[in-house]
Amino acid sequence: MQRLALTRISADPTHALDLQSAAEPTPAPGQVLIQMEAATINQTDLLAAAGQYFVTPTPGATIGSEGVGRVIAVGHDTDTALVGQRVALLATYRHGTWATHVVASPDDLIAVPDDGDALQLAMLGINPMTALRLLRDHGNPDDPDRWIGQTAANSAVGEYLIKLAHHFGHRTLNVVRREHAADDVRGWGAEHVVLDGPDLDDAVTAALAGDTLDIAVDSVGGPASSTLGQHLRYGGTLVTYAAQSGQPPALSQADLIGNQASLTGFWLHNWWQRTQLATSREEYRQLVDLIGDGTLSARVDRTFPLANWRDAMVAAQAPTGAGKLLFTFPDN
Ligand SMILES: NC(=O)c1ccc[n+]([C@@H]2O[C@H](COP(=O)([O-])OP(=O)(O)OC[C@H]3O[C@@H](n4cnc5c(N)ncnc54)[C@H](OP(=O)(O)O)[C@@H]3O)[C@@H](O)[C@H]2O)c1
Repeated sequence: MQRLALTRISADPTHALDLQSAAEPTPAPGQVLIQMEAATINQTDLLAAAGQYFVTPTPGATIGSEGVGRVIAVGHDTDTALVGQRVALLATYRHGTWATHVVASPDDLIAVPDDGDALQLAMLGINPMTALRLLRDHGNPDDPDRWIGQTAANSAVGEYLIKLAHHFGHRTLNVVRREHAADDVRGWGAEHVVLDGPDLDDAVTAALAGDTLDIAVDSVGGPASSTLGQHLRYGGTLVTYAAQSGQPPALSQADLIGNQASLTGFWLHNWWQRTQLATSREEYRQLVDLIGDGTLSARVDRTFPLANWRDAMVAAQAPTGAGKLLFTFPDN
């Protein structure tokens, strides 16, 4: 087998990782061995290798947090019916997925259909569930007329959020920072797309036409977040899930006091750790169905074989905005 192992913590992943060969692992009791098809390259994987994430891997660990593959062996006392099952690996930080073969616990896997798109299923674990949780666990999810505002709307999370909001019948107001990104976002069914910058407040006011946002979902921070915060309904919520500008999210005192708006955060791993396994599995099964019927997808920019991992890491540090990067394992 081959795997990308962390050799040392470094902000430059080409210095932090090494492609290593090893004997195919034997699953221990309660574990399964998965032959991988595809594994997503997320910014959080690079942050983890840089020691800048909530979870810091130890040197020697395989990097990568989600992916898809097929169970090819099970350990002693483990359900043999799992052999042959195609599975998505969730981001439980108990296994690394940038490897041809991965040993994992069945609790960290979701069964996926044989005929599903490997790249879309590889991305199941993190971004679709993040978008679903942002929508369902904040504000008034059962209000059919609710407006959702979001920054970085052309991100993968943004794409899933727009498609899910459309599926649930909610209206979205989407902020992007580049005009050509706006065309992508409109193509996903977004009601309104506005450009970040000095005119953002005017553009949001015009788009909402007197309505207010139930929630504002933010992965950028800084002025864009506070502008959306000004358009929250009374008691509305600004939910931050990343700080891509490096600036903290902000709500003014006027919004916090006069409008009783709230500022909160979301990390998927917190949800997963605090949710009954049966519940989280059921939620994931719904997403598998929505990916299967084409309701949910995210754009893919490029894929890389593991041997070209340095090119992959260089590409991951200079995103083009054209979609996600993934490893694929064509020799498996
Ligand atoms: N809290 C959680 O549980 C959770 C879960 C999933 C993801 N995340 C985080 O959410 C973020 C989005 O993930 P993703 O996979 O959807 O990302 P992605 O598809 O790679 O998209 C990145 C987005 O961020 C925008 N962006 C990057 N730097 C920016 C800046 N300085 N100012 C404004 N916008 C900026 C990009 O805009 P351009 O296209 O214009 O460059 C693009 O829209 C990542 O930081 C990820 O780590 C958090």
